[in-house]
Amino acid sequence: MKKFSIVIAGGGSTFTPGIVMMLLDNMDRFPIRELKLYDNDGERQGILGDALEILLKEQAPEVKFSHTTDPEAAFTDVDFVMAHIRVGKYAMREQDEKIPLKYGVVGQETCGPGGIAYGMRSITGMMEIIDYMEKYSPDAWMLNYSNPAAIVAEACRVMRPNSKVLNICDMPVGTLRRMSQIVGKTPDELEVRYFGLNHFGWWTSVKDKETGHEYLDEIKEYVAENGYLTQVEVDTQHMDESWQATHKKAKDLLAIEPRFLPNTYLKYYFYPDYEVSQSNPEFTRANEVMAGREKEVFTAARGIIEKGTAESSGFHIDSHASFIVDLARAIAFNTHERMLLIVENNGAIANFDDDAMVEVPCIVGSDGPEPLAQGKIPNFERALMLQQVTAEKMVVEAYIEGSYQKLWQALSLSKIVPNAEVAKNLLDDLIEANKGYWPELS
Ligand code: NAD
Ligand code: G6P
Ligand code: MN
Repeated sequence: MKKFSIVIAGGGSTFTPGIVMMLLDNMDRFPIRELKLYDNDGERQGILGDALEILLKEQAPEVKFSHTTDPEAAFTDVDFVMAHIRVGKYAMREQDEKIPLKYGVVGQETCGPGGIAYGMRSITGMMEIIDYMEKYSPDAWMLNYSNPAAIVAEACRVMRPNSKVLNICDMPVGTLRRMSQIVGKTPDELEVRYFGLNHFGWWTSVKDKETGHEYLDEIKEYVAENGYLTQVEVDTQHMDESWQATHKKAKDLLAIEPRFLPNTYLKYYFYPDYEVSQSNPEFTRANEVMAGREKEVFTAARGIIEKGTAESSGFHIDSHASFIVDLARAIAFNTHERMLLIVENNGAIANFDDDAMVEVPCIVGSDGPEPLAQGKIPNFERALMLQQVTAEKMVVEAYIEGSYQKLWQALSLSKIVPNAEVAKNLLDDLIEANKGYWPELS
């Protein structure tokens, strides 16, 4: 079997060790000859990189490993770029979450004003790494899960239309794991139909691959009572208490649209006041992650470095991230794997704009994704999606044109922002907080 060379962009991410361990665990399906980490923060990445170097020497000495801040070294001779950068890191995520809360507005990483602010930062970082990939490894593919994926995907569509970038989100993957447990199956045994935008969509079918049995009603019955909260631990990434509350809230999302199973992110759009009432403006999810996942991962890395061995280390396989291998394999081996991706609509949702970046099931092969037709969607969802996707498009337009007016309009369009006055106050605060990260707006 061919062996691949991979660079992880955003090597200093809290997810890097889990993904590297997952890759090592999948070497029989997806052999690796070289693995590199790339980040523009060498100090942060260095801690994980030094620890992983020790781990790889022990567990996979045949894989050539390095970590670097030099784009040429990082992006030369790679087959895949796995991208999970966070421009502005947690310090800026904290701002994205806390500034809206000052105005009684939802403060969230990818939704509403926080997501828009993050989007304006991410576009620069994403275009930079796409250009590095194309300069140094023109045949490579980027598998991107850097957020906010909806805005990033739209920016790719407009600014790098011919680049080989696949945008994917793990929320539907995680939720399918919960659904599969509800019906006593494994995710691999199920096949779904789904439509929407990233962090803004609905399942219309969850079928048994083999028998064709439709589980939608059975799962709905469960979700109407419990949301997606399940009895046993099924996820590696969405276990904190705040996530449990999110899984549970799906119950109220099903109540407003009982036909389909909701993506949990819809809660920010349908129940924003509730969300704000549950938020602590002094201690948001960014603080939770810094005190939790970030601390754990970097403490484990320091432990490995101190001991000089990764034996009984605190790094764990992020098994839920194996969809990244499925995606890479689909490209590398033309497997025609069926996966949800964020792609240009072009008729996949029959009564929605062709040029909208939507999240739908796709068949993925060596030439990339082929979206599967999801038919017509109801007016309720169509209207919600049009408002949301227009806001996302206007963020990208505002970025390209450096337009204050358009970004104000984008914020006003977000269902989460109550009115134009709040939108303007938010915008002025966000501009201040994002100095040096956003393009100049006038
Ligand atoms: P993190 O802050 O721990 O890691 C991000 C890393 O990116 C940092 O080390 C930072 O220095 C680096 N970085 C920032 N700008 C860069 C640039 N221009 N070039 C290279 N590196 C850069 O963040 P995290 O919580 O581990 O999350 C990483 C990313 O993955 C985020 O964008 C997050 O939203 C995303 N994510 C996406 C999904 C999904 O389903 N799509 C799931 C989980 C996480
Ligand atoms: C889900 C989403 C990601 C998001 C993550 C946030 O996995 O699909 O897009 O980045 O949650 O998780 P966190 O633990 O950082 O709040
Ligand atoms: Mn996501």
